[in-house]
Amino acid sequence: MTDSVTLKFGEQTFELPVIIGSEGERAIDIRSLRQQTGFITYDPGFANTGSCKSAITFMDGERGILRYRGIPIEELAEESIFTETAYLLINGELPTRKELNRWSVMLNDASLVHEDMQGFYQHFPRGSHPMGILSSMVNALRSFYPELQVQEEEIDITVTRLISKIRTMAAMSYKMSRGHKVVYPRPDLSYCANFLNMMFDTPVKPYAIEPEVVRALEVFWILHADHEQNCSTSAVRLVGSARVNLYAAISSGIAALWGPLHGGANQAVIEMLSTIRDRGGDVGWAVEKAKDRKDPFRLMGFGHRVYKTYDPRAKIMKRMCDNLLNRLHLEDPLLDIARELEQRATTDDYFIKQHLYPNVDFYSGIVLRAIGIPTNMFTVMFAIGRLPGWIAQWKESMDDPDWRLGRPRQVYVGDVQQGYVDIDAR
Ligand code: ACO
Repeated sequence: MTDSVTLKFGEQTFELPVIIGSEGERAIDIRSLRQQTGFITYDPGFANTGSCKSAITFMDGERGILRYRGIPIEELAEESIFTETAYLLINGELPTRKELNRWSVMLNDASLVHEDMQGFYQHFPRGSHPMGILSSMVNALRSFYPELQVQEEEIDITVTRLISKIRTMAAMSYKMSRGHKVVYPRPDLSYCANFLNMMFDTPVKPYAIEPEVVRALEVFWILHADHEQNCSTSAVRLVGSARVNLYAAISSGIAALWGPLHGGANQAVIEMLSTIRDRGGDVGWAVEKAKDRKDPFRLMGFGHRVYKTYDPRAKIMKRMCDNLLNRLHLEDPLLDIARELEQRATTDDYFIKQHLYPNVDFYSGIVLRAIGIPTNMFTVMFAIGRLPGWIAQWKESMDDPDWRLGRPRQVYVGDVQQGYVDIDAR
């Protein structure tokens, strides 16, 4: 294996070093490219660009592999709980029992949100999307929790606050959007059970915590906890590279995740399946529409920038979806439509040739519906799950010896120099 590549331009040649990752990923180190050659690279959507070295998450899109800190997602989904996985991502290794207990106590202690923040919720217009609200509220946390002087303490407490408070804030926004009384976190409940209780408990109907539902939520959040340099994580790293505070960097990640091509797809899948149901279950209509290159419509929950096979998270999500509905004795007509749509699309030439398979969002909405989460909160659920990944990636970037302010170049294709024309002469 060579440890450099040669770039030839006319008679001139340039040597560029090659970096090889621990799983064999090869990258041409172009840091000296512009200085040596005057060239920059052009890579819209960064599909061929490694923006960093990272030791957090490994994914192989061809073989459908996903591992956090080397541990396969299948094992974590089977064995772990969300707070443990969060610890693993952020700290680099699984916690001991003592460390996990301490982490749980810290999360519990940080779970309340400043009472004055409730005023913000009341002044968002009715019908505001919860992702917009969450992004603003996370950014606002900095004003309520000013920076500490000791850097290490500041990072630890900010990380704990974020992970703990995000679920309180999410549940609060739901309660307030319904005009209901806010339910406070309880110290006797686990992270996931606490969230469900804050969402669904009411003074007239106490929420019965079902272990199956709690487990489903644990797995849902574990599956979403990190996915290396996706759009929202790249947003967190890029914004973070300007050395903004962590709350602001996470707020930008939430904004990026909101998009329907990214985290917003879980909501878009349910909307698409509902449209198919309203059209009498005609999945063929959706498949043909998605194949029509003149039509911007896409099968939501299908396709992925990296996975060119079945998303390993989607496999787990699908199995969990079946089990959960069985155990809760629920029937969801959208699940039947989803199964039929998957069957039709994955046997269709267009989808086979383009390597389009279900991604994590395809079945996740049906799981969330079974748990009782309203559709407009789906992407918020994704954001809570992705938070440990964003934090781990931000932390890693802060300690990276190769760190630089993120600032891509461009190929300018606008007008060449021209004179200013007086307004009366235009
Ligand atoms: N339905 C129909 N056609 C599709 C789909 C789809 N879901 N996804 C991609 N294609 C087609 C494109 O039209 C394109 O066809 P063309 O080459 O004939 O123009 C080709 O496949 C490649 O598509 P790109 O957009 O170039 O692929 P990219 O890697 O940029 O996009 C993306 C990935 C955005 C996820 C895309 O597959 C998509 O829009 N999917 C639907 C939205 C979705 O489910 N997003 C969630 C992704 S997972 C996540 O973020 C958590």
